[in-house]
Amino acid sequence: MNSRGVLISLEGPDGAGKTTQIELLADNAVKGGFRTLRTREPGGTPLGDDVRAILLNPCYQEMTPLTEVFLYAAARAQLFEQVVEPALRQGFLVLCDRFIDSSLAYQSYGGNVSFDFVLQVNLAAIKRRLPDHTFILDLPPEKGLNRRPCAHADRVEQKPLTFHSSVRAGFLALAERFPERITVIDATLPKEEVCSQIWQVVLPLLARC
Ligand code: TMP
Repeated sequence: MNSRGVLISLEGPDGAGKTTQIELLADNAVKGGFRTLRTREPGGTPLGDDVRAILLNPCYQEMTPLTEVFLYAAARAQLFEQVVEPALRQGFLVLCDRFIDSSLAYQSYGGNVSFDFVLQVNLAAIKRRLPDHTFILDLPPEKGLNRRPCAHADRVEQKPLTFHSSVRAGFLALAERFPERITVIDATLPKEEVCSQIWQVVLPLLARC
């Protein structure tokens, strides 16, 4: 695949504010005249949205970590080929609300599935096209979960705090493992400050768009 376009992913524990940041970043990018596409995972295609409904349905308490790996990767493969890859070919800035690192943090660090296995399945799903940069919006899991209404917690949000703490530790471990690609941002800062820190890194990458 050619190297046109720029692929940015925002990652982090539940309730870290990724969706707000994607909106702010997209606003900045559009104002700057960059053709911009936003995606969210799991989902972002009709097929992926159906997979999302299965993944987050609290009725499926019996879903195994391995089943999760395949379902998230299936939705991701569909999104990549149907949406992300064509947009990159056309030189778009693609802003992803979660991407491959969520599977590494949640299914490997959180769900104890082999790191290399999760990595290989997901590299296949994204045709080995890693993000040009990834931001982890970091905050203590209890803060993130408190930002969500409990009554509507989905299957993942209902998991115990110990699981969410492992996920957070996983994200931070990923940042140490891939320091050239991943930047950790303190998600407890005001949203404008978070956006400005991200934008300072993203802007120089946009020469390719
Ligand atoms: P969202 O709440 O950010 O839309 O994400 C849905 C949930 O799915 C969230 O709790 C994180 C989880 N998830 C994984 O466990 N693995 C993945 O690969 C992705 C993309 C999300």
